[in-house]
Amino acid sequence: MVAYGISSGVHVGGVRRAVACSVVILAAGQGTRMRSDLPKVLHLVGGKPLLAHVVDTATQLGAARVCVVYGHGGDRVRAALSHLPITWVEQAEQLGTGHAVAQALPHLPHNDTMLVLYGDVPLIRPDTLHALLSAAAPSDDAPQGSLALLTAHVPDPSGYGRILRDDQDRVVGIVEDKDATRTQRSIREINTGILAVQGASLARWIAQLNPRNAQGEYYLTDIVERAVLDGVPVQAFQPNAITEILGVNHRAQLAELERAYQLRQAHDLMIVGVTLRDPARFDLRGTLTVGRDVEIDLDVLLEGNVHLGHRVRIGPYCCLKNVTLAADTEVRAHSVLEGVTAGEACILGPFARVRPGTKLGARVHVGNFVELKQTQVDEGSKINHLSYVGDAQIGRDVNIGAGTITCNYDGHHKHRTVLGDRAFIGSNTALVAPVEVGADATIGAGSTITRSAPPEALTLSRAPQETRPGWKRVTKKDSTV
Ligand code: UD1
Ligand code: MG
Repeated sequence: MVAYGISSGVHVGGVRRAVACSVVILAAGQGTRMRSDLPKVLHLVGGKPLLAHVVDTATQLGAARVCVVYGHGGDRVRAALSHLPITWVEQAEQLGTGHAVAQALPHLPHNDTMLVLYGDVPLIRPDTLHALLSAAAPSDDAPQGSLALLTAHVPDPSGYGRILRDDQDRVVGIVEDKDATRTQRSIREINTGILAVQGASLARWIAQLNPRNAQGEYYLTDIVERAVLDGVPVQAFQPNAITEILGVNHRAQLAELERAYQLRQAHDLMIVGVTLRDPARFDLRGTLTVGRDVEIDLDVLLEGNVHLGHRVRIGPYCCLKNVTLAADTEVRAHSVLEGVTAGEACILGPFARVRPGTKLGARVHVGNFVELKQTQVDEGSKINHLSYVGDAQIGRDVNIGAGTITCNYDGHHKHRTVLGDRAFIGSNTALVAPVEVGADATIGAGSTITRSAPPEALTLSRAPQETRPGWKRVTKKDSTV
């Protein structure tokens, strides 16, 4: 069923070669400006912690080792990302970016290319990092490799380190905002902090850092001057999009990156052939695989692992979490689906709520204000209006009338309802579980079914209808109260 796939943050069509590198991710900062009890790097973009984005990107590069330097809230960060292949290194005191890298170095092989990333800069793309890693590799011209810096030209450079170039435009240093002269502050080319360099050079330069600067910190950026002194070429690269290098300091920036991330995913999906009625009104917090000609209307939220087969249509205002829909299935407006598998050409909604453990066969219809839970519905069956069906097994071509309820809970336990093929359940039926309705059975409307109903027969339980001719309603003047 699946023709194309995108996962969160994966560049479409990206087949990449692995590069021998080790990655250091700096994540020891306090993140005070988030004003949160949650460590900054655990805040989510696209449903995934900031730091997990960076680790996933490093893993995609084929990094031999990914080392995260943590500080504030370290235990929570480690616990939240315990499923990822990370070497954790504590930086107990935050003495600067150079000091942070120094903590990681003993844990990394020095004959690798080292890549430094930030745990709060989640949208950096593997392609951009490949360019840095290739430039940093040793070559005939540069046997010790190069120092490859990711820089950017920004309209407002305040707060950032500025890139210093000589009169031949060669990078010769980085000066931090707090240490810069007025002239240097007017430089618009900034240091993103992301860089690649040979491990041996990095270790040598890090050992030479000192904290003689305005902040009393060990600045990683001071390695640029060391490289120049050692005759190691310094090369600057720029990302394709500025969003790649944006960091999160407060919640407004978090929201900005969320939107940028969602637009990027939306763009990738459209490129693989999905119709999005409005890419600005689509969110994917997880992974999505799609067939051909999938259509997604406005304000749709997809979470977890979602698989949409050929020609699946999702109407406006729908939420789908961990859902697999086969070809030609349609989900109509305002439906909420979680933990659902549906066969081909089903129609769900509008206003359907389909809960975990639901498996629908082909051509099943689930209509408005219908709730399903832990239920299997076989091919061709219809539950079109105002029903609750839970813990049930429903055969094929069954028709469930409006207002049917499975009474599956006795206050302590859940019980099952089983409906045979082609059963016809009249409207407003209460099926008191455990209960079974045979194949081709008919249940009269308004029945409360407490015992199993045999196949091919009409079963009903209701007071016989009677008429009392001449009966008068009580009128007001007759009233004694
Ligand atoms: C740093 C750079 C600056 C660059 C800017 C980009 C230095 C000296 N300066 O500035 O040139 O323009 O990033 O955003 O490198 N961290 C640690 N341990 C520490 C200090 C920081 O792990 O002791 C981590 C932080 O969690 C963060 C990253 O390193 O992820 C950068 O730290 P931050 O304080 O935000 O950077 P700046 O000093 O502003
Ligand atoms: Mg700082």
